[in-house]
Amino acid sequence: MKRILVWDVPTRVFHWTLAVAFALAWLTSESDVWLSHHVFIGYLMLALLGFRMVWGFVGGAYARFGSFRFSPKTGLNYLREVLAGRAARHIGHNPAGSQAIYLLLLLLLVVGATGIVTLGGDEQHGLASGWFAMASGRVLKKLHEAAATFMLLVVAGHVTGVLLESLQHKENLARSMLTGFKLAPPEYLPSKPYRTVAAVLVLVLLAFGVWWFSYALRAPQHKASALAFVGPQLAINPRWRDECSSCHLSFHPSLLPRRSWQALIGQQADHFGADLGLDAATSASLLSYVAENAAEKHATEAAFKIDASIAADVTPLRITQTPYWIKKHREITTVDWDLPWIKSKAHCEACHHDAQAANFEDAAMEIPRTAPIAR
Ligand code: HEC
Ligand code: HEC
Repeated sequence: MKRILVWDVPTRVFHWTLAVAFALAWLTSESDVWLSHHVFIGYLMLALLGFRMVWGFVGGAYARFGSFRFSPKTGLNYLREVLAGRAARHIGHNPAGSQAIYLLLLLLLVVGATGIVTLGGDEQHGLASGWFAMASGRVLKKLHEAAATFMLLVVAGHVTGVLLESLQHKENLARSMLTGFKLAPPEYLPSKPYRTVAAVLVLVLLAFGVWWFSYALRAPQHKASALAFVGPQLAINPRWRDECSSCHLSFHPSLLPRRSWQALIGQQADHFGADLGLDAATSASLLSYVAENAAEKHATEAAFKIDASIAADVTPLRITQTPYWIKKHREITTVDWDLPWIKSKAHCEACHHDAQAANFEDAAMEIPRTAPIAR
């Protein structure tokens, strides 16, 4: 037996970047605040998939698909042998491991593709923006989640397989994937390291990361302008802005249904204790702007979901009393609400950088835990 290089450097870079990305994708899947990171990781994983497809044909001897072409039947038989404790040792990928790899590559494509269409449907963002109605977003999201869960199961199976194999053949397979080396009989030839390819791969991944996250530098006032998050440009009416912005943010009409705005303008003489003093002509002009831009028009994800959350016979006078708003903000603690630079729930712009533009992008929100710096 001699020690030979089995896993070339690019294959190892691919493997561990993918493993870390997969874990991070799960960790960032829970909160919308992390969505821009989640989407970045998704594109990264698709790029890794693209690389692996090429590497499967031109890469090192043990990374080539040709070196691990086993039928599903061989894979199952091998699994049985592993369970019986008499599986043959393979220098490259074993038959069951190979099946897991092909399945994972396929799932990577499915998870990535369903992720892109979910972003396109649910948020109307990214490459597939506009392909699907916002209402189909929920179904697409379920598909994406189901595929990701299935992938998690296959990953668990893969890790279990690595552990079983390592025990059975008394060799640390995870360490081989780190160092690249394994002990092999003399007839096995070592793989080439391909360090230049690995360096290019790492540089491309880094450049992509820097480019993606530099959106904060390119447009600091609008954190949401990352590739995936260029939302629709909403109509802003100057008259509405003038009449409604002296006491608070001029809430965009897309945040409440038309009947709510009609009620608010109808009772403008007693507007939460204030008299707005609108004359008939101004009221009429504001109402015609509202008619074109109220939540029912579903111009943004927020508009669609606010509208969908309100019962038809209810006319909320506050955005902050709509079921969707309440659901989205229920985890914010009173400690945060009481911060002197937040105070009111209606002070949307304290936490949403794009409140004025009314996109309410996931990437544009954060609870300011320190006093804002005056610009
Ligand atoms: C003279 C001051 C003043 C002006 C001008 C004004 N508002 Fe208000 N508005 C208030 C106050 C006070 C509240 C209650 C704020 C709070 O509870 O934090 C309020 C609350 C609201 C809310 C509810 C916010 C929530 O909690 O979801 C809406 C919607 C609203 N205003 C719409 C408008 C519109 C539309 C205009 C322009 C036609 C307008 N306001 C102009 C004083 C004003
Ligand atoms: C104290 C900070 C804070 C204030 C003030 C606030 N929000 Fe939010 N908002 C958040 C956070 C944090 C989230 C994300 C919750 C989550 O993780 O799902 C959020 C989520 C949302 C979402 C969902 C976005 C999405 O794509 O999932 C909408 C819409 C929204 N807020 C609208 C508003 C509006 C309108 C106001 C003002 C009437 C407002 N918010 C005031 C912190 C705030």
